[in-house]
Amino acid sequence: MRLAERLRHIHSFRVMDIVDAAQRLEAEGHRVIHMEVGEPREPSDPFIRDAGAAALARGETAYTPALGLPALRRAIAAYYGTYHNVDLDPERVVVTAGATGALMLLSALLLDPEDEVLLGDPAYPCNRYFPLLFGAKASLMPLSPQAGFALTERDVVKAWGPRTRGVVLASPANPTGAVSSRAALQGLSEAAASRGGWALFDEIYQGLTYPSALDDQPALPAHGDLASDRVGTILSLQGGADHEFLVNSFSKYFGMTGWRVGWLVAPRAAIPAIEKAAGPGVLRSRGPRGRLLRLCDAAPGAARQRVLLPCIAGKGRGRRHARYGLRGAGRGAERTLLLHRAPG
Ligand SMILES: Cc1ncc(COP(=O)(O)O)c(C=O)c1O
Repeated sequence: MRLAERLRHIHSFRVMDIVDAAQRLEAEGHRVIHMEVGEPREPSDPFIRDAGAAALARGETAYTPALGLPALRRAIAAYYGTYHNVDLDPERVVVTAGATGALMLLSALLLDPEDEVLLGDPAYPCNRYFPLLFGAKASLMPLSPQAGFALTERDVVKAWGPRTRGVVLASPANPTGAVSSRAALQGLSEAAASRGGWALFDEIYQGLTYPSALDDQPALPAHGDLASDRVGTILSLQGGADHEFLVNSFSKYFGMTGWRVGWLVAPRAAIPAIEKAAGPGVLRSRGPRGRLLRLCDAAPGAARQRVLLPCIAGKGRGRRHARYGLRGAGRGAERTLLLHRAPG
């Protein structure tokens, strides 16, 4: 059987190989400090697990609309109102299978073969593979430790080429933890807009910035700290310009990596195309219970989405924020090791 040529350029997610190796060492009795994968230390909150079990027991296992359950889309929009003072139209919110689902969907939406996407380097390793799946490619802009691994408008302007279509930036970033300032985000968004491009902001680590335990480190902003120069969400800058896309997820802040639920916020005009891309093969026939059946639905299952309503509305939030620790994002032993003992 002949596999698609593009797969030759996609490598396995090496971090998972490292996790396997680390777990083997732990099983042999070695002490391992995990700095490899962005996995919350603890399982999802008990109220989330209970709500999941209850939703399954009620039989909420059916297909959902391609754009997500309307109640969850409304709840996510309301969350931006409550925590970020942003008036977000729920119609612009799309529920996806994790941030990964959102990044794939947006790659399908925004890229043609041979197109290029600008990414900082280092960045989340999978980001360079999403364009490849659609015949496009990533163009890497080296980030320097001297500049705090920050991506600037100048980098974007310099790297923008004839086939560049947009730029992807995570803030806080993986793996560097760099948090971009308002000015930097605005600058690079404008640089993309003035070239007819788009800007995609990955906010999956939003809320996971910590006041430093070290005196010489400036405190990072709390979740949605609007007074700070640094931003809680790109939506608070201008309410989302018509070339800006935002990706977020329940994986990290909400401690739900394995549930595979995330969301994106897109310009209103892009939503019909996203709905088409999210639900290819929609069967307009009637199912056994007289319901509209959907095939290949990109949105995650009904039970999972229903569970998220209390979660996004804030239940357990303070507790979660206070005790959250990502294995990979640097806190406690990992943070000290990173800041004081890592080479360079
Ligand atoms: C920057 C970034 N974006 C996206 C993802 C994927 O997140 P999800 O689990 O929601 O698919 C990760 C996962 O580590 C990440 O670090």
